[in-house]
Amino acid sequence: MRRHLLSVDDVSREDIERILGRAESFAEVSGREIKKVPTLRGRTVINLFYEASTRTSSSFELAAKRLSADLVSVKSSGSSVEKGESLKDTVQTLSAYDPAAIVIRSPHAGAAALVARWTPASVINAGDGKHEHPTQALLDLYTLRRRVGSLEGLSVWIVGDVLHSRVARSGILAFTRMGCDVTVCGPPTLIPRGIESLGCEVRYTLDGLGEADVVYALRMQHERMKGNFVPSLREYAAQYQIDGRRLGAAQLLMHPGPVNRGVELSAEVIDSPQALITEQVESGVVVRMAVLYELLAGRGAPAAVPAPDETIAPQPA
Ligand code: NCD
Repeated sequence: MRRHLLSVDDVSREDIERILGRAESFAEVSGREIKKVPTLRGRTVINLFYEASTRTSSSFELAAKRLSADLVSVKSSGSSVEKGESLKDTVQTLSAYDPAAIVIRSPHAGAAALVARWTPASVINAGDGKHEHPTQALLDLYTLRRRVGSLEGLSVWIVGDVLHSRVARSGILAFTRMGCDVTVCGPPTLIPRGIESLGCEVRYTLDGLGEADVVYALRMQHERMKGNFVPSLREYAAQYQIDGRRLGAAQLLMHPGPVNRGVELSAEVIDSPQALITEQVESGVVVRMAVLYELLAGRGAPAAVPAPDETIAPQPA
């Protein structure tokens, strides 16, 4: 396993298996009344979020706290610190605290890789523009595996705004690595050219959706759209919305959140027993604990310093 988690390409299938297994063991800790283990005591984790986040930021915070790390959360509205020098300055400033890890979310593709060049800390990409979101992919694998057991040979359809979706890119890489057959589907304007090279098939209509074991719907990423990619949300919904008519009784439904209710998903499917959306959120904490553990535990751990009471205690004869 490498020092950073910037892309799903940083983890082999073996790494993924180990991380998911570790997450299982942390799930046991999450079931306790006191949900804490001392693994990262005395280590510092910095969350640096330059873009809106509810699930990813809160689950990384909980993950660091449940591993007993010291946590600093830095948020920016994204206006003053946009790129280049100022991100570099911020990272170098925060690196003065000697953090073990920096978790970074940025609206710019490639930002996490830049941060990794500017700090000695391990860097975790929590979403960089439309590029990648590897921990989302890992938590999706974990959630799905818990529900169905083996992922080998499953047909996963990723439906919607693939063009602007880091979740889709990381998801295609991760699902295929675990032996799933991945199809992406959406209007031609929202499917990036050459996406097949990641190992997926492309469809422009939902006609074949019946073959999917898992329907993974994506949010329409309004904030990344400059111009008109679809005639209207109503027309988009008419052709691509996953609703009770289109989702078969044996198919599972996933979505990274936040959901645009009534656009990519209808209310009935969001609240159906086939939806894994809440489980995905729940999995976020244990999978991010496992990622922090994987990158930090045993790596550069500080040499044992005697606790204050030990320094004054008389040595045993
Ligand atoms: C995703 C994101 O921010 O990339 N959300 C998340 O992390 N759960 C997907 C999205 O915003 O649509």
